[in-house]
Amino acid sequence: MSQYSVLLVDDEEDVIAGFLLTGMVGILSGCSLRQTREAESIKIGVTVYDQYDTFVSQMMEVFKNYAGEKEAETGIAITIEMYNAADSQTTQNSQVESMINDGCDVVCVNLVDRTEPTTVIDMAEKNNVPVIFFNRELVEEDLERWERLYYVGAKAFESGIMEGEIAAAAFQNNSSSDKNGDGMIQYLVLEGEAGHQDAIVRTEYAVSTIVESGIDVEKVGYAIANWNRAQAQTKMAQLLPEYGSEIELVLANNDDMALGAIDALKAADISRNDWPVIVGIDGTDVGLEAVKKGEMIGTVYNDKEGQAQGILNLAFALSTDGNLSELALEDGKYLRLPYAKVLPEDVDAYLK
Ligand code: BGC
Repeated sequence: MSQYSVLLVDDEEDVIAGFLLTGMVGILSGCSLRQTREAESIKIGVTVYDQYDTFVSQMMEVFKNYAGEKEAETGIAITIEMYNAADSQTTQNSQVESMINDGCDVVCVNLVDRTEPTTVIDMAEKNNVPVIFFNRELVEEDLERWERLYYVGAKAFESGIMEGEIAAAAFQNNSSSDKNGDGMIQYLVLEGEAGHQDAIVRTEYAVSTIVESGIDVEKVGYAIANWNRAQAQTKMAQLLPEYGSEIELVLANNDDMALGAIDALKAADISRNDWPVIVGIDGTDVGLEAVKKGEMIGTVYNDKEGQAQGILNLAFALSTDGNLSELALEDGKYLRLPYAKVLPEDVDAYLK
């Protein structure tokens, strides 16, 4: 039976709001563990920018499962202290302070504002607690500021290229996707948060990949929907009356926004034959279901399992013997998992 435990910490009142899973709570003696090489228990602090983000929350579920498996495999009890920063960097900074004060051996930070890691880095360095940043990438200069800082994520440009390839193939294989028959693709972009590394790069590479495949494109509109399904639905509903019949392709920076576009098309009673081609990125459970139903032409798998396992293995190594040699870090600091294209014929394998 797994002994790992998860402490869910309420962000506002700083109390333990929930405690779940079986067994033992790691009783920790603050800093002493940080120097212990043969730990019997370790404590990992995690703070996510927004616990309601579909991709991040699914990645955290997988992370907790891996922690259970790691504990069973090694016999070292793992306590996870998990916080939701609820989109506030100030809140997240206080959470990191609490995690350090609570004796976490390592803190894993999904930054709210990827340009504001300074407070986190300064506190961590002062207390000699390593930090694994994940999913929201800080600039290299910041990661270089101390040797015990790491980043786990993916290569944003790769997902853009794959999204562009999926879209280009859809038009090459089916000429009726060019609804007005003008030999060009009229497209609309639904973008993630302004300033997020994945939003900027995914859009740029998706479009340039389509163009490089020999297809002319014309942008009919774009909207920032902050990775969010409801916001994407609202923005799409606003764009439909003006551009509805012109739009032949929706390039969404993630699956949730692609699904928001689909929600808007359904709400507007637009017949399925008149829908544009819709492509997403992530391969979340709901995104994969939409590919299976043929509502999305495809998606790009953002390897949440690989990333979660990378964060866990790195956190575990940093909290125990410090041996990182098996982790194949790039430049000793980065772990980036590859993306993969998911087309209707691949989707069942991913849904499993
Ligand atoms: C994912 C998005 C997610 C964002 C959060 C991206 O890599 O594709 O779905 O909302 O990270 O930072």
